[in-house]
Order: sequence, then C-alpha cells, then structure tokens
Amino acid sequence: MQQRTAARDRNLREYIMKLKIRPFVPSDEKAVVQLWTDCGLVVPWNNPHRDIQRKLKVQSDLFLVGCSGDRIIATVMAGYDGHRGWINYLAVHPQHQRTGIAKRMMDQAEAKVRAVGCPKINLQVRSTNAGVIEFYKTIGFKIDDVVSFGKRLEPDE
Ligand SMILES: CC(C)(COP(=O)(O)OP(=O)(O)OC[C@H]1O[C@@H](n2cnc3c(N)ncnc32)[C@H](O)[C@@H]1OP(=O)(O)O)[C@@H](O)C(=O)NCCC(=O)NCCS
Repeated sequence: MQQRTAARDRNLREYIMKLKIRPFVPSDEKAVVQLWTDCGLVVPWNNPHRDIQRKLKVQSDLFLVGCSGDRIIATVMAGYDGHRGWINYLAVHPQHQRTGIAKRMMDQAEAKVRAVGCPKINLQVRSTNAGVIEFYKTIGFKIDDVVSFGKRLEPDE
C-alpha cells in the first residue's frame, strides 16, 4: 500500500512537472474563456473578454496559462500595484484538479510578483465559492481580518 502511494505520488510529480507554464498570448483567449466557464468563474458582471483585454494593457507578463501539450488546462492572473500583489482567475480544468497544478501555478505567480518587489499577496474569494478556502489555506494563505470593499468604475453587464 505504501509503495502504491509512493508510485502515485511519483507519477503525479512527473505529470505536474510536464505542465508548461507561460504568459498568455492573444490566441489563447477562446480556450481561456472556455476554461473559466467550465470552472464556474464567469459571472454576468465580469465580462471575461474585457477582463483579458484590460490585463493585456497592464503587466500582461503576469497573466499565466498552464498547458498540457497544446491544451490550456490552467490559468492565473497576477498583478502587483506597488503595495500588494493580487491574484485573480486561478483555474484548473475540472478533469485535472487535485493533482497539484493550482499549487504550481500559484508558486509561479508568487515568484513573479516577488521578483518585482511585492511583499504580500492578497486575493478575494466569492462567498459562494467557500470550497476553495481550504486550498488557499493549504498553500499558506491566511484569512485577513478585513472587510472587502469594491466600487465599480465601468459596468461590464
Ligand atoms: C481551486 C482550484 C484552482 C484548485 O486547483 P487544484 O489544481 O485542484 O489544486 P491542487 O491540486 O494544487 O491542490 C493542492 C491542495 O490544496 C487542497 N485543496 C485543493 N482543492 C481543494 C478543495 N476543493 N477542498 C479542500 N482542499 C482542497 C488539497 O490539500 C490539495 O492537495 P491534495 O489534493 O493532495 O489533497 C480548482 O479547484 C478550481 O479551478 N476551482 C474552480 C475555480 C475557482 O474556484 N478558482 C478560485 C477562485 S478564488
């Protein structure tokens, strides 16, 4: 049993290491929006195409996709505003979840914002998506004692 678990862990590690992580390019847009839809991240008040166009104008190198062969199976959209790093659109295709891919995407995003001097990463989880909280705790995030505010400057609906 011990050996079977070790073999599974080894296979998983090899599988994860094969994931190629690179910056988003415009031709990825359709596949990325499909991935976000499959992962339940697309909501009426955030137009994913507009979100991508905005990101391409600001730190586009921090918008990463994870590829298995030619297929995009993961994304993370990171940013650094000079005070805090931010994470959005972390997604792993449902067929590939629980294999360590999100952790790898987050490690890469963290390395990138750290490289530009970011001292702390913040992120928001929708209250309807409480399941993801355990994931963030597992990779070292703590719940901050804050109330999150937002003010919409440009409607997407
Ligand atoms: C959240 C999400 C990105 C996690 O991706 P993932 O690739 O499955 O995560 P990992 O395999 O790297 O998880 C690492 C560890 O985190 C924990 N974890 C991950 N998902 C979890 C869950 N749903 N519940 C409890 N723990 C979880 C586990 O400890 C896991 O290790 P294990 O599988 O060996 O037990 C993925 O579930 C997803 O795309 N969800 C839909 C989109 C979404 O909600 N994005 C976040 C927006 S804030």
